[in-house]
Amino acid sequence: MNDFDWSKKPEPISKEKEIRLCQYFCDMSHIERLAGALFLALSNRLDDPTLKAIYQTFHTDEVRHSVAANKLMDYFDVHHYQVYTTNMWMNWFTPFFIRAIETLNPAFANSYILGGELILDIALLRSLNEYAGDPLSNAVVDKINQDESRHLAMDFYLTEYCSTHKMERAKGSRKGFLNPDLWGVMAFGPGFFNEVFFQPMQVMDPTNYQMKEVMKRIRRFNDRPEVQKNPTVKNWHEALEFFESPAGSRVGAVAEKIIKAATGLDFSFVRAASTENIYGKEKETTRKTDDAAEQFAKALAS
Ligand SMILES: [Fe+2]
Ligand SMILES: [Fe+2]
Repeated sequence: MNDFDWSKKPEPISKEKEIRLCQYFCDMSHIERLAGALFLALSNRLDDPTLKAIYQTFHTDEVRHSVAANKLMDYFDVHHYQVYTTNMWMNWFTPFFIRAIETLNPAFANSYILGGELILDIALLRSLNEYAGDPLSNAVVDKINQDESRHLAMDFYLTEYCSTHKMERAKGSRKGFLNPDLWGVMAFGPGFFNEVFFQPMQVMDPTNYQMKEVMKRIRRFNDRPEVQKNPTVKNWHEALEFFESPAGSRVGAVAEKIIKAATGLDFSFVRAASTENIYGKEKETTRKTDDAAEQFAKALAS
């Protein structure tokens, strides 16, 4: 943090923009702390000493990012229009999510961390930085992004690792809907993502560019042969198959409309990960033909 000149003042901005920037950096500061806690929880779940040590350094990185986000909040808080406090939904969500990561199968824990990093630590922070359009914010976020590249590389590596190493949930922890932490995540997660991520993103990235990039990145990564035995990747492909089937695509379209009518949020960005979008129409036709041929072969054999 000492690499930057914090004595500078930002260019004049509107009252509305100052309040938004301060609130978003305030929430970002908590998100970075949350990311740090998740890496620490993951480190405690792994046996490999090298992996454990790497994730401990990631915890240190995220705490540093949190301090930087807090300093950026103070930097933009020129007029002290209000006291900024972190989002309540996020505060309620945090302990449940950390406990879930502490007990889940590390393959699933890593998958949630990977998704969280792509969506919050990268897409949200990048959009916030672009919205700020400020040289000091640019310099700080460039530095944070250097750490994020290492985090993502390890998130991807651990996805491959869990493809070849069978992992288990923590001993004595409750499974599925018997786990109270899962209920907490489901109860507070939608409010958290809505208010801390989707609503600000509609202001800062109305074309959903960042989220479309996230979806494409996840799809391309999950299509790599090295990760096919990871249970989370299997689940992803099952969900994708469903939503690309005739019945599933109708369910998806209705859900998208209901969400838009009820909350105003546009979830059409998920289509960026579709087979047609990633590989083009030709591949889509080939895949469907292959599936039909396989089903025909199975019917003949039975
Ligand atoms: Fe971070
Ligand atoms: Fe990170």
